[in-house]
Amino acid sequence: MSKSLNLDEIIDRHGTDCVKWEYISNAEGFHHGDHAHPKHGDDRLLPMWVADMDFRVPKVVEDAIVARARHGIYGYTVPAQSYYDAVRGWFKRRHQWDVEQEWITLTPGVVPGIKIALHAYTKPGDKVIVQRPVYYPFSSSIEELDRELVVNALLYKNGRYYLDFDDLEEKASHPDTKMLIFCNPHNPVSRIWDEAELKRLGDICIKHNVIIFSDEIHCDLIFTGHHFRPMATISEEIAQICVVGTAPSKTFNLAGLSNSNIIIPNDDLRETYNMAKSRNGFWGTNLFGVEATKVAYNEGDEWLDEVMAYVEANYHFMKAYLAEHLPQVRVVEPEGTYLIWADFSAFEIDPDVRKKMMMEDAKVYLDDGAMFGPEGDHFERFNLACPRSILEEALGRIVRVFQKEAVTV
Ligand SMILES: Cc1ncc(COP(=O)(O)O)c(C=O)c1O
Repeated sequence: MSKSLNLDEIIDRHGTDCVKWEYISNAEGFHHGDHAHPKHGDDRLLPMWVADMDFRVPKVVEDAIVARARHGIYGYTVPAQSYYDAVRGWFKRRHQWDVEQEWITLTPGVVPGIKIALHAYTKPGDKVIVQRPVYYPFSSSIEELDRELVVNALLYKNGRYYLDFDDLEEKASHPDTKMLIFCNPHNPVSRIWDEAELKRLGDICIKHNVIIFSDEIHCDLIFTGHHFRPMATISEEIAQICVVGTAPSKTFNLAGLSNSNIIIPNDDLRETYNMAKSRNGFWGTNLFGVEATKVAYNEGDEWLDEVMAYVEANYHFMKAYLAEHLPQVRVVEPEGTYLIWADFSAFEIDPDVRKKMMMEDAKVYLDDGAMFGPEGDHFERFNLACPRSILEEALGRIVRVFQKEAVTV
């Protein structure tokens, strides 16, 4: 593959209302933080937390947004045929999935899409399963809507994660269990579940009438040697109980444009979903999101392949760097996403103390593992969608702080 992008370029994101580079999130919400100027060497907080990229979007997308902006009228928007053709073309080309146009319904994000599904298919008090450690809005969405959070924790064996099918079967069989929020590729443990795993999980859900919300937002971010299978392609029966969350936002760094596609093959599930969507006030969509999605899905393949090659090289850099300077950290072998899950348990440090060491001593802002559930207490999640020099600076800071710790333990 010939290189055309300069992904080493550090782009200053300050002054753009950027969550990652200007804010800190805590229990009270977002507040401004003292972040580094994103050039090498500044000792203020270096952010590698929230899942967006520090890379510029494909040039064709930028040009399309500028051209649309120049039209000067930004009225109500409902996507036309060309939008659906682009979405269907992408899933066919990249994932060999034939998506029918009428299966697609738009939401301003996958998390809003999950909340709509909870409204549509469950009522307060119903049980909803998640597989922790997992992307934290799954759990908070369930609890905010007064549904009961049921944890089917992943199994962690010899540095790799697995689904716990026996526990899933038991929890799915409870008559109040109505839905499973599934993550594939999995954030944060970076597993891409294989066909046999998907089939077994799907069949358990069919048997116990549990609807699967399959969050596949990371489906395009695949490491070499791995293959992603959309849940709804495993069998026709499984497709009929699936509500699939997809979006170009992670793939092409478009999260600020608030546009995602929820794909629902079953007519009844789709009708119920669309009614819940309407009841919750969702109508129309963000016109820049529509424009960007169309162009990215039609013309973004090469950009994505180059970005993923860079992210993968970042991972190999990180792995080698830690092996040399801080071998106590065990990095879970990634299969997809640009999020790396690293096991710090060898240090035997209290998770709150470790968080403070990262934020206040190393001044590196990561998502600490506990956010993903207590199963993640001894882990940290790194976002590697950044120029290598930022990663190197962050790792250097962490190594300096933890080497001291290693000497004292
Ligand atoms: C698994 C998963 N789902 C959903 C989202 C966010 O989706 P959205 O911004 O479309 O609501 C993320 C973002 O990190 C994610 O990792």
